[in-house]
Amino acid sequence: MKKKKIVIGNWKMNPETFKEAKELSEGIRKKMVGVKKTTAVVCPPHLYFMSLKPKNASTKLFYGLQNIAREAAGSFTGELSATMARNCGVTYTIIGHSERRALGETDDDVNKKVLLALKEGIKAVICVGESKVDEHAGHLTFIKNQIVTALKGVTTSDIGNVLIAYEPLSAIGAKNPITSYEIHQRNIFIKKVLCDLYGKAKAFDIPVLYGGSANAMNAKELVEGGEVDGLLVGRDSLKVDNFIAILKEMDSIS
Ligand code: 13P
Repeated sequence: MKKKKIVIGNWKMNPETFKEAKELSEGIRKKMVGVKKTTAVVCPPHLYFMSLKPKNASTKLFYGLQNIAREAAGSFTGELSATMARNCGVTYTIIGHSERRALGETDDDVNKKVLLALKEGIKAVICVGESKVDEHAGHLTFIKNQIVTALKGVTTSDIGNVLIAYEPLSAIGAKNPITSYEIHQRNIFIKKVLCDLYGKAKAFDIPVLYGGSANAMNAKELVEGGEVDGLLVGRDSLKVDNFIAILKEMDSIS
Protein backbone atom coordinates (compact mmCIF):
# COMPACT_ATOMS: atom_id res chain seq x y z
CA MET A 1 0.00 0.00 0.00
CA LYS A 2 1.26 3.48 -0.85
CA LYS A 3 2.17 5.67 2.11
CA LYS A 4 0.33 8.92 2.70
CA LYS A 5 2.35 11.88 1.52
CA ILE A 6 3.61 14.26 4.16
CA VAL A 7 4.58 17.91 3.87
CA ILE A 8 6.40 19.64 6.72
CA GLY A 9 6.71 23.41 6.77
CA ASN A 10 9.88 24.61 8.45
CA TRP A 11 9.23 28.26 9.26
CA LYS A 12 12.82 28.71 10.51
CA MET A 13 13.21 32.13 12.23
CA ASN A 14 10.03 33.55 10.63
CA PRO A 15 7.76 35.49 10.67
CA GLU A 16 8.88 38.49 12.70
CA THR A 17 5.56 39.17 14.45
CA PHE A 18 3.16 36.89 16.28
CA LYS A 19 0.31 38.50 14.34
CA GLU A 20 1.76 37.25 11.05
CA ALA A 21 2.41 33.83 12.55
CA LYS A 22 -1.22 33.61 13.69
CA GLU A 23 -2.51 34.65 10.28
CA LEU A 24 -0.31 32.07 8.61
CA SER A 25 -1.32 29.27 10.96
CA GLU A 26 -5.02 30.07 10.86
CA GLY A 27 -4.96 30.64 7.11
CA ILE A 28 -3.46 27.21 6.54
CA ARG A 29 -5.91 25.59 8.94
CA LYS A 30 -8.89 27.15 7.20
CA LYS A 31 -7.76 26.10 3.75
CA MET A 32 -6.85 22.59 4.89
CA VAL A 33 -10.49 21.63 4.22
CA GLY A 34 -9.50 21.31 0.58
CA VAL A 35 -6.69 18.89 1.43
CA LYS A 36 -7.91 15.32 1.60
CA LYS A 37 -5.08 12.83 1.93
CA THR A 38 -1.81 14.53 2.70
CA THR A 39 -0.42 14.86 6.22
CA ALA A 40 0.56 18.46 6.94
CA VAL A 41 2.86 19.69 9.70
CA VAL A 42 4.06 23.20 10.45
CA CYS A 43 7.07 23.93 12.63
CA PRO A 44 6.88 27.52 13.89
CA PRO A 45 9.49 29.13 16.13
CA HIS A 46 9.25 27.78 19.70
CA LEU A 47 8.15 31.16 21.03
CA TYR A 48 4.91 31.00 19.01
CA PHE A 49 4.22 27.30 19.31
CA MET A 50 1.82 27.12 22.28
CA SER A 51 -0.27 30.07 21.17
CA LEU A 52 -0.66 28.74 17.66
CA LYS A 53 -1.45 25.12 18.42
CA PRO A 54 -5.23 24.81 18.83
CA LYS A 55 -6.48 23.26 22.06
CA ASN A 56 -8.84 20.85 20.32
CA ALA A 57 -6.99 18.08 18.56
CA SER A 58 -9.49 17.72 15.72
CA THR A 59 -7.49 19.97 13.37
CA LYS A 60 -5.87 18.24 10.39
CA LEU A 61 -2.76 20.35 10.77
CA PHE A 62 0.00 19.08 13.08
CA TYR A 63 2.37 21.43 14.90
CA GLY A 64 6.00 20.52 15.44
CA LEU A 65 9.25 22.03 16.67
CA GLN A 66 12.42 22.91 14.77
CA ASN A 67 14.76 21.52 17.42
CA ILE A 68 14.91 20.05 20.94
CA ALA A 69 17.62 19.83 23.58
CA ARG A 70 20.22 17.08 23.58
CA GLU A 71 19.89 16.71 27.34
CA ALA A 72 16.86 15.20 29.08
CA ALA A 73 16.60 17.71 31.93
CA GLY A 74 18.57 20.10 34.10
CA SER A 75 20.39 23.41 33.96
CA PHE A 76 20.61 24.16 30.25
CA THR A 77 19.79 27.80 29.69
CA GLY A 78 17.71 28.47 26.63
CA GLU A 79 16.94 24.83 25.86
CA LEU A 80 13.62 22.95 25.56
CA SER A 81 13.52 19.30 26.57
CA ALA A 82 11.75 16.49 24.74
CA THR A 83 9.72 15.81 27.89
CA MET A 84 8.54 19.44 28.00
CA ALA A 85 7.70 19.18 24.32
CA ARG A 86 5.66 16.01 24.79
CA ASN A 87 3.84 17.55 27.75
CA CYS A 88 2.92 20.52 25.55
CA GLY A 89 1.48 18.28 22.84
CA VAL A 90 4.37 18.30 20.38
CA THR A 91 4.06 15.38 17.95
CA TYR A 92 6.92 16.12 15.52
CA THR A 93 10.33 17.71 15.83
CA ILE A 94 12.91 18.47 13.19
CA ILE A 95 16.37 17.35 14.31
CA GLY A 96 19.77 18.05 12.78
CA HIS A 97 18.79 20.64 10.19
CA SER A 98 21.89 21.73 8.28
CA GLU A 99 21.41 25.29 9.55
CA ARG A 100 21.77 23.96 13.10
CA ARG A 101 24.68 21.75 12.14
CA ALA A 102 26.31 24.89 10.72
CA LEU A 103 26.00 26.37 14.23
CA GLY A 104 27.98 23.46 15.63
CA GLU A 105 25.49 20.64 16.10
CA THR A 106 27.25 17.29 15.64
CA ASP A 107 26.06 13.84 14.56
CA ASP A 108 26.39 12.81 18.19
CA ASP A 109 24.12 15.69 19.28
CA VAL A 110 21.62 14.64 16.64
CA ASN A 111 21.66 11.07 17.95
CA LYS A 112 21.04 12.20 21.55
CA LYS A 113 18.12 14.37 20.43
CA VAL A 114 16.63 11.59 18.34
CA LEU A 115 16.72 9.14 21.25
CA LEU A 116 15.10 11.66 23.60
CA ALA A 117 12.36 12.55 21.11
CA LEU A 118 11.55 8.90 20.47
CA LYS A 119 11.50 8.13 24.19
CA GLU A 120 8.72 10.70 24.49
CA GLY A 121 6.83 9.33 21.49
CA ILE A 122 7.63 12.39 19.37
CA LYS A 123 8.24 11.80 15.67
CA ALA A 124 11.85 12.66 14.80
CA VAL A 125 12.37 14.28 11.41
CA ILE A 126 16.10 13.69 10.95
CA CYS A 127 17.73 15.98 8.41
CA VAL A 128 20.66 14.68 6.40
CA GLY A 129 22.38 15.95 3.30
CA GLU A 130 25.75 16.60 1.75
CA SER A 131 27.37 19.99 1.30
CA LYS A 132 29.02 18.91 -1.94
CA VAL A 133 28.92 16.04 -4.37
CA ASP A 134 32.22 14.40 -5.28
CA GLU A 135 33.05 11.99 -8.05
CA HIS A 136 34.27 9.30 -5.65
CA ALA A 137 30.83 9.18 -3.98
CA GLY A 138 32.18 10.76 -0.79
CA HIS A 139 28.82 12.45 -0.42
CA LEU A 140 27.11 9.07 -0.11
CA THR A 141 29.49 8.01 2.65
CA PHE A 142 28.76 11.34 4.32
CA ILE A 143 24.99 10.76 4.20
CA LYS A 144 25.41 7.18 5.38
CA ASN A 145 27.45 8.29 8.38
CA GLN A 146 24.87 10.92 9.26
CA ILE A 147 22.08 8.34 9.19
CA VAL A 148 23.95 5.56 10.97
CA THR A 149 25.09 7.88 13.78
CA ALA A 150 21.67 9.56 14.15
CA LEU A 151 20.02 6.15 14.55
CA LYS A 152 22.53 4.63 16.97
CA GLY A 153 20.49 2.88 19.67
CA VAL A 154 17.14 3.37 17.90
CA THR A 155 15.28 0.09 18.20
CA THR A 156 13.04 -1.52 15.60
CA SER A 157 10.05 -0.71 17.79
CA ASP A 158 10.92 3.00 17.79
CA ILE A 159 11.91 3.30 14.14
CA GLY A 160 8.25 3.78 13.21
CA ASN A 161 8.51 7.31 14.62
CA VAL A 162 11.48 8.26 12.45
CA LEU A 163 11.36 10.23 9.21
CA ILE A 164 14.43 11.05 7.14
CA ALA A 165 14.53 14.43 5.39
CA TYR A 166 17.15 14.52 2.67
CA GLU A 167 18.21 18.13 2.11
CA PRO A 168 21.29 18.75 -0.05
CA LEU A 169 22.80 22.02 1.16
CA SER A 170 23.17 23.41 -2.34
CA ALA A 171 19.39 23.37 -2.81
CA ILE A 172 18.38 25.00 0.49
CA GLY A 173 17.27 28.60 0.05
CA ALA A 174 18.44 28.39 -3.54
CA LYS A 175 16.85 29.17 -6.87
CA ASN A 176 16.32 25.57 -7.89
CA PRO A 177 16.09 22.14 -6.29
CA ILE A 178 18.29 19.29 -7.46
CA THR A 179 16.73 17.09 -10.16
CA SER A 180 14.18 14.41 -9.37
CA TYR A 181 16.63 11.92 -10.89
CA GLU A 182 19.26 12.88 -8.30
CA ILE A 183 16.65 12.74 -5.54
CA HIS A 184 15.67 9.26 -6.68
CA GLN A 185 19.29 8.10 -6.58
CA ARG A 186 19.78 9.45 -3.06
CA ASN A 187 16.47 7.97 -1.97
CA ILE A 188 17.55 4.51 -3.15
CA PHE A 189 20.84 4.93 -1.32
CA ILE A 190 19.12 6.07 1.90
CA LYS A 191 16.71 3.10 1.70
CA LYS A 192 19.68 0.76 1.29
CA VAL A 193 21.31 2.20 4.42
CA LEU A 194 18.02 1.81 6.31
CA CYS A 195 17.57 -1.77 5.00
CA ASP A 196 21.01 -2.71 6.27
CA LEU A 197 20.08 -1.34 9.69
CA TYR A 198 16.48 -2.49 10.08
CA GLY A 199 15.65 -5.01 7.36
CA LYS A 200 13.60 -4.39 4.25
CA ALA A 201 10.07 -4.43 5.69
CA LYS A 202 10.81 -1.85 8.38
CA ALA A 203 13.10 0.24 6.18
CA PHE A 204 10.49 0.69 3.47
CA ASP A 205 8.04 2.00 6.06
CA ILE A 206 10.35 4.87 7.05
CA PRO A 207 9.25 7.99 5.18
CA VAL A 208 11.99 9.71 3.21
CA LEU A 209 11.29 13.37 2.41
CA TYR A 210 13.09 15.79 0.16
CA GLY A 211 13.84 19.41 1.08
CA GLY A 212 15.45 22.30 -0.80
CA SER A 213 13.68 24.87 -3.00
CA ALA A 214 10.49 22.85 -3.20
CA ASN A 215 7.43 24.80 -4.27
CA ALA A 216 3.99 24.26 -5.74
CA MET A 217 5.36 24.29 -9.29
CA ASN A 218 7.94 21.55 -8.77
CA ALA A 219 6.46 19.60 -5.83
CA LYS A 220 4.76 16.89 -7.83
CA GLU A 221 7.72 16.26 -10.11
CA LEU A 222 10.16 16.11 -7.20
CA VAL A 223 8.04 13.66 -5.23
CA GLU A 224 6.91 11.47 -8.11
CA GLY A 225 10.27 11.47 -9.88
CA GLY A 226 12.24 11.06 -6.67
CA GLU A 227 9.75 8.49 -5.36
CA VAL A 228 9.93 10.17 -1.97
CA ASP A 229 7.16 10.32 0.61
CA GLY A 230 6.87 14.07 0.79
CA LEU A 231 8.64 17.37 1.29
CA LEU A 232 10.29 19.54 3.91
CA VAL A 233 9.55 23.08 2.80
CA GLY A 234 11.16 26.33 3.91
CA ARG A 235 10.21 29.52 2.07
CA ASP A 236 7.00 28.28 0.52
CA SER A 237 5.64 27.23 3.90
CA LEU A 238 5.47 30.93 4.85
CA LYS A 239 2.66 31.78 2.44
CA VAL A 240 -0.74 30.23 3.02
CA ASP A 241 -1.63 29.77 -0.64
CA ASN A 242 1.74 28.37 -1.62
CA PHE A 243 1.78 25.85 1.21
CA ILE A 244 -1.80 24.78 0.48
CA ALA A 245 -0.97 24.47 -3.23
CA ILE A 246 1.90 22.10 -2.36
CA LEU A 247 -0.44 20.02 -0.18
CA LYS A 248 -2.95 19.81 -3.02
CA GLU A 249 -0.24 18.73 -5.45
CA MET A 250 0.59 15.92 -3.03
CA ASP A 251 -3.09 14.99 -2.83
CA SER A 252 -3.17 14.66 -6.61
CA ILE A 253 -0.52 11.91 -6.55
CA SER A 254 -2.45 8.67 -6.41
P1 13P B 1 13.76 26.23 1.20
O1 13P B 1 12.48 25.47 0.87
O2 13P B 1 13.51 27.64 1.51
O3 13P B 1 14.82 25.99 0.18
O4 13P B 1 14.31 25.59 2.57
C1 13P B 1 14.44 24.23 2.65
C2 13P B 1 14.69 23.85 4.06
O5 13P B 1 15.76 24.10 4.58
C3 13P B 1 13.61 23.20 4.80
O6 13P B 1 14.04 22.70 6.02
